[in-house]
Amino acid sequence: MQQQLILERGGQTVFGALTAQPADALLALIGAFRSDARPDKIDVGVGVYRDLDGRTPVLRAVKQAERRLVDGQPSKGYLGPEGDVGYFDALKPIIFGAYDYDDRLSGLQTPGGTGALRVAAELIARARPGARIWVGNPTWPNHPPVMKSAGLVVAGYDQFDVAAQQLTFERMFSALSEAGPGDVALLHGCCHNPTGADLNAEQWTAIATLLRDRGVLPLIDLAYQGLGAGLEEDALGTRITLDIVGEGLVAYSCDKNFGLYRERVGALYALSQSAEQSHIVQSNLLSLTRANWSMPPDHGAAIVRVILEDAALSADWRTELAEMRDRIQQIRDLLAQADPLLAPLAKQRGMFSTLPLSVADVARLREAHGIYMPSSGRINLAGLTPDTVEPFIDALASLR
Ligand SMILES: Cc1ncc(COP(=O)(O)O)c(C=O)c1O
Repeated sequence: MQQQLILERGGQTVFGALTAQPADALLALIGAFRSDARPDKIDVGVGVYRDLDGRTPVLRAVKQAERRLVDGQPSKGYLGPEGDVGYFDALKPIIFGAYDYDDRLSGLQTPGGTGALRVAAELIARARPGARIWVGNPTWPNHPPVMKSAGLVVAGYDQFDVAAQQLTFERMFSALSEAGPGDVALLHGCCHNPTGADLNAEQWTAIATLLRDRGVLPLIDLAYQGLGAGLEEDALGTRITLDIVGEGLVAYSCDKNFGLYRERVGALYALSQSAEQSHIVQSNLLSLTRANWSMPPDHGAAIVRVILEDAALSADWRTELAEMRDRIQQIRDLLAQADPLLAPLAKQRGMFSTLPLSVADVARLREAHGIYMPSSGRINLAGLTPDTVEPFIDALASLR
């Protein structure tokens, strides 16, 4: 009877109207790597930090903070749609340094950097339905879908020449010169994913001045602070931009710099032109998140708060962060020294670079050498160790 009804209704039911979507290419790659039996296989595809043993460790400071939470957390009652305010406030000096715009800065805790980007996009769409957002080419592959899902129109600016391994700053600047009042520009705060190519202070100043002059709102994605050149250095672009433009959004993630990936720890900060405007922005953020995830998950943000409120735990976290950063830089330096074509990698920052490889090259590396990366040629430097640099270089050389 039930089956009969279903058949009669055919494609008219809700599910019947759906079409299959392509599987996430990176997840498929992880599956293929797992089922590869070769003992010397190398995974430079996955997007998380790995130590010398190939593990994504739980940081010491995180474990300590978790112990304190288990022993001392008084309640699991609701916190509210803004999440953990102590966490949100404790991050401010790390991100903004000695800032003086407290009454113009609003925002809330979000589920990861992705949640921050999503609520930022929804805020923009609510303010200006169908607003245009300028996104770099290339960029993190999830940027365009997140923006489009909220109803924004995505435009592109060329950011990097993969063959030349160079930032295409002039092209970026001239594309953004086409942006107008009410548009938004999405910028990577540091450790550009997927190219590792960051703007220098002079370039940040030029872009920020352009955005201010053209009435364009910056949305800065700061997902890797501390994994590039250092916590302060990695915040430079964000600070320059907000100082010059005087308003903007910062989508922040603690998932990488605290190694909390699965805990989904993020925040969205909004700098407005006045305290009154900031109040209105905050009320909109609260209503948007209330209708979405209602309240963010607590555990990861509580861990970050416990660490940042304790001098000893904070110092230990900074040490561990520096170790991760140094390990990534060591691999960058080894690759750059081993092959002149990879020399630019030493000056790039963060976990990712994109190599000038064709789709056929990437397939050949996988089939002949057990080296796994997405077809874009993006590699995660933390997928290599000093011991695997040589076979990796040899495999690349065999393509030429
Ligand atoms: C550039 C960029 N932004 C945001 C994110 C999202 O981070 P989260 O895992 O905190 O959602 C990522 C994750 O890979 C990223 O690479």
